[in-house]
Amino acid sequence: MPNSRIAGTGSYLPEKVITNQDLEKIMDTSDEWIRERSGIKRRHVAADDESSADMGLYAARKALDAAGIDATDLDLIVVATTTPDKVFPSTACIIQRRLDIHECPAFDVHAACAGFVYALDVADRFIRTGGATTALVIGTETYSRILDWEDRSTAVLFGDGAGAVVLQPTEEEGIIRTAIHADGKFEDLLHVPKGISTGYSPEDPEGAYIQMKGHAVFKKAVATLDSMAREALEHSGHGADEIDWLVPHQANLRIIAAAAKKFNLPMDRVVVTVDEHANTSSASIPLALDVAVRDGRIKRGELLLFEAFGAGFTWGSTLVRF
Ligand code: ACO
Repeated sequence: MPNSRIAGTGSYLPEKVITNQDLEKIMDTSDEWIRERSGIKRRHVAADDESSADMGLYAARKALDAAGIDATDLDLIVVATTTPDKVFPSTACIIQRRLDIHECPAFDVHAACAGFVYALDVADRFIRTGGATTALVIGTETYSRILDWEDRSTAVLFGDGAGAVVLQPTEEEGIIRTAIHADGKFEDLLHVPKGISTGYSPEDPEGAYIQMKGHAVFKKAVATLDSMAREALEHSGHGADEIDWLVPHQANLRIIAAAAKKFNLPMDRVVVTVDEHANTSSASIPLALDVAVRDGRIKRGELLLFEAFGAGFTWGSTLVRF
């Protein structure tokens, strides 16, 4: 049974940037509060005519280029998103059409901020069991559309963007181990209360936008770090001291720092983009990965650890030989 390896990475950020100082002008907040509590300085926001599929497509094209692969070689597309272009078809099908390829399976995975780790696990299992040989895995989100821009407790925390990877089979180490989990009992701590079957309306500020009990989410995210650290490594044949880079979900710098501590990693071995991108949900790990690959920090052969925690709650971690 082959393993799967990351053959190429890509990402995309919308042009428009909103800084903390910009937010100070439209709500009762401060740059100091946002930086101290979350580490965030600015975020990118999609243009009015820019969608999750648009951004995912741009990121995908860069990942295909980096892998030296033509879109026609793809035989699987998995898109992690909670902000799809349409109710249906899936964002994966929309991206497939724009890549001008046909018939390979294409579907979305919905696991909020843990979405990329989930989608990567799905694609990895396809490759290891012979169901696919060249898979495109994308995380893409337009959270600016599900934010109440008058709610300072959420509006300051999120941004838009996309990241993508191409997976191919290898006889060497690649994706070594993934552990994913969910516990729906925490639904009300972090959610958009209404969906299509429960009366979603963009005019309804109580239903259409993110609601989060930030402090409770923070505590649970930190409490989950122990098991995420343990699970990614157990039965992998690798120890925490071998990890070259932690590439965590980018929700909050304090959570990221606590995660680094679990692995005894200095912060200069942790890829941090939350300051520049804020929380881009399922796009945040592939975005951070691509940034660090392109600026030369992450090199071929290095051992990477992805970990994510999000609404559901959902959480997971992946150990990867890059
Ligand atoms: N500016 C100024 N003050 C603010 C702001 C703001 N933007 N937002 C809240 N406050 C105030 C609150 O009203 C509160 O005031 P009070 O004490 O007078 O009542 C005070 O600041 C403290 O609020 P807390 O919520 O206790 O602040 P905390 O230290 O917990 O930080 C934060 C808040 C940044 C949201 C943090 O709890 C956090 O990061 N939580 C986790 C987020 C996360 O990881 N999400 C997971 C993934 S997201 C997904 O899946 C979609």
